[in-house]
Amino acid sequence: MTPEPQPTATYEADPANVHRVLLLYSGGLDTSVMLKWIQDNYEAEVVCLTVNLGQPGEDYEVVEQKALQLGAVECHVVDARERFASEFVAPAIKANAIYGNGYPLFTALGRPLIAQLAVEYARQSSCDTIAHGCTGKGNDQVRIEATVATLAPELKTIAPVRTWAMGRDEEIAYARENGIPVKGGTEVAPYSIDDNLWGRSSEGRWIEDLERAPEDDVFQLVTRPEEAPDEPETVTVGFEQGLPVSLNGERLELVDLLEEAAGIGCRHGVGIVDHIEDRIVGLKVRDIYEVPAAAIILTAHEELERLVGTIHQNQFKPALDQKWGYLVYAGLWWEPLRSDLDAYMDAVNAQVTGEIGLRLYKGSVRVVTRSSPNAVYDASLAGFAESGGLFKQTASPGFIELWSLQSRMAHHLREREEG
Ligand code: ARG
Repeated sequence: MTPEPQPTATYEADPANVHRVLLLYSGGLDTSVMLKWIQDNYEAEVVCLTVNLGQPGEDYEVVEQKALQLGAVECHVVDARERFASEFVAPAIKANAIYGNGYPLFTALGRPLIAQLAVEYARQSSCDTIAHGCTGKGNDQVRIEATVATLAPELKTIAPVRTWAMGRDEEIAYARENGIPVKGGTEVAPYSIDDNLWGRSSEGRWIEDLERAPEDDVFQLVTRPEEAPDEPETVTVGFEQGLPVSLNGERLELVDLLEEAAGIGCRHGVGIVDHIEDRIVGLKVRDIYEVPAAAIILTAHEELERLVGTIHQNQFKPALDQKWGYLVYAGLWWEPLRSDLDAYMDAVNAQVTGEIGLRLYKGSVRVVTRSSPNAVYDASLAGFAESGGLFKQTASPGFIELWSLQSRMAHHLREREEG
C-alpha cells in the first residue's frame, strides 16, 4: 500500500524521500494513531512537537510520555504562550480582529505560530518532512501548509488524515491493535475541540444540525449565562498604546492578563458565540465558540480606539480591520499586506491609552466608563453649557447651508422632473 497517492502540490512529500518526520502532536487519538502509522508506512523516524498556547487543563508530562512510549525518537514540549500573546494576539487586538459575526480568530492566530515552531524544530532535529493532523476539509490545513511552504521551501509535508481513509471506528481498531491508549467511551464521537488562551471552539456532533440549539455539555469553559451570578461585576481594563496592561488597576503581563480576563468572563457567562462560518475551503460550518477573554478585551479596545480617533479615522479603520482579519482567517499570516496593515494599526494605536470600565452580567458585556488623556472629547464643548473658544454656535447656520447644498439642489431637480 502506498501511504500517499500521487502528490498534487510540490511541497507534498514523496514517500521515498521521507526519513525523519516532525509530527505536530497533541496526544489525542488522531495524532497518536498517526505517530505509529508514519513509522509503519514510511519506515521513518518521528520527532514529536507539542505546543502550549495556553489550552486549559492540558498535562504536557502525560503527552510527552505517551509520545515516547509510542516510539517517538524525540518529543519537544514548547511553552509558546508568551510568543503567542505578544506576536499574534497583540496585533489582533490592535486590529479588533473578528471574522464573520464574532469569531476572534484564536485558532487562525495559533496555527501560523505552531507551523513556524514546527519549521524551527524540524530544522533543529534534521527532519525532512512535517506531519499534521488536519483533515482535507478545514482551514487549519491551509494555515499550516501555507506557513511551512512559505518559511521552509526545503521541507515537505504529509497530512495522513487526508489520505488514510480510516473512519473513527477503524482508527480505534488500529489504536487497539497497536497498543495506543484510547481514553473515554468510544461509542459517542467527542466534539472536535481546539483551544488556546484567546478562545475555544467546538465542532461536530449535534453542532452540525443547524436546527438544534446548543446542548449544555458543550460549554466546558464558560458558565451558562442562566447560571451566572445574579450580581453584575464591573471590570476596568487599562490600555497603553493599544495593548491591555492592567485589570482593575493591577498591572499584569499580557499572558496573565488574558488568562485573568478569561476567568472573570467565564464566571459571568460572557463570550459564547454560535457561529455559521464561511470557510476558506468552500464549505460553511457551524462552530460553538467560547471566547471570554476576547469578549472583554476587544470590546474595551474598540471603545477606547473610537474615543481617541477622529470621525475620519473611525470610519476608515474598520475596513482595514476586516481585511486584516480575513487575511489571518484565510491562512495568509505571512502575506506582506498584513505587515503593511500592522504599520497602520500601530500608528492609530499609538494614541490608544486609557481605561474602559465594563459591566458583566449573565452573558452580556456593556461599556459603562471611559477615560483617556487622548480622547478627542471636550465635555465643555459637547455639553449644553455655552462653549467658548473653539467655535460659536451662531456659526452653525452657515455650515448647514453649505453642508446641505448639493443634496438640496439634487432634491429639487428630481422634484421638477416628477412634475
Ligand atoms: N472554524 C474555526 C477556524 O477555522 C475553528 C477551527 C477549529 N479547528 C479544529 N481543528 N477543531 O479557525
